This record gives sequence, structure tokens and C-alpha cells, in this order.
Amino acid sequence: MSDVVMVPDISRTVQKWRKKRGSLIMALHEVQNRYGYVPRNVSLQLAQLMDVPLARIYEVVTFYNYFNLEPPGRNNVSVCLGTACYLKGAPDIFDSLKEVLGLEDGGTTGDGEFHLQSVRCVGCCGLAPVVVMNGQTLSKVRPGDAKDITARAKKKE
Ligand code: FES
Repeated sequence: MSDVVMVPDISRTVQKWRKKRGSLIMALHEVQNRYGYVPRNVSLQLAQLMDVPLARIYEVVTFYNYFNLEPPGRNNVSVCLGTACYLKGAPDIFDSLKEVLGLEDGGTTGDGEFHLQSVRCVGCCGLAPVVVMNGQTLSKVRPGDAKDITARAKKKE
């Protein structure tokens, strides 16, 4: 595994959806997929960049069951299974993390410590394969890094 890289800010997401129909919902979908929930600071950024009231964002997020306002676990691990990551071995990384955490896709440990999910492209294909841990992108991850990734999260507590 190489260095931790911050997830690119959401301006790219906004650029992608800005002029399209249903742009707010599509941008929120991307945020939900990336983080496993819609963090408040990201909602604030979205409101500013898309020029929509924050209240409108919360209206949408609370209307649809698909969106979560709270992180599903204390540590959220998202494994990118988009094409670039998939081709560079992401399925093996995902399997290792599933084994280490004893979880299936979308599962949360009984103590709420970890939530594991697969996501589609998080916009860092050049760093593939990537895992997003609590909003930080880990680049060029290898299956053998699974234990290290979970240990790193525990150490930060
Ligand atoms: S496919 Fe994984 S970041 Fe794009």
C-alpha cells in the first residue's frame, strides 16, 4: 500500500452533474457511494458549489431511504470495484477485508466498529486499486494490506 491520499474534493462531482437533470440527487448518490453516508461538511460544500440551499439538500437526503446522515460504522471501509481498480486486483483486496473483518458487502460488525462496502469508481483511477477509509483514499492497496488497514483505524481511536 502506498501513501494516504485525500479524496478529491467534490468539485469534480459537481462539475460532472451540474448541468444535468436531477443533478443534486446524482451528486448525492455519488457522495453516498463514496463515503457510505452524506457527511455534513460535504453537504455544506455541495450547497455552496451547486448554489442550492442546505435545507434542500437535507430535504432530499431525508426523503430517500437510500441516503444516510450518519456513518454506518465508526470506521467505514469502502473498496472500489470500478473497472480500473477491478482490473488491478480489487476483488482480492475486498475478499481479504471481508475475511479479516468477518463481514459481507454492506455489513457492519456487531460492535459497530467497522462497516465494509464495495463502491464504484471514486474518481482516483490513477491510484488504483483504492480503498477509502473514513474519507481518506488509500492508494495501490494489496490484498495483504487488509490487516494493516484495520489496525491503522483502531490505532487512531
Ligand atoms: S475505478 Fe477505482 S477509482 Fe476509478
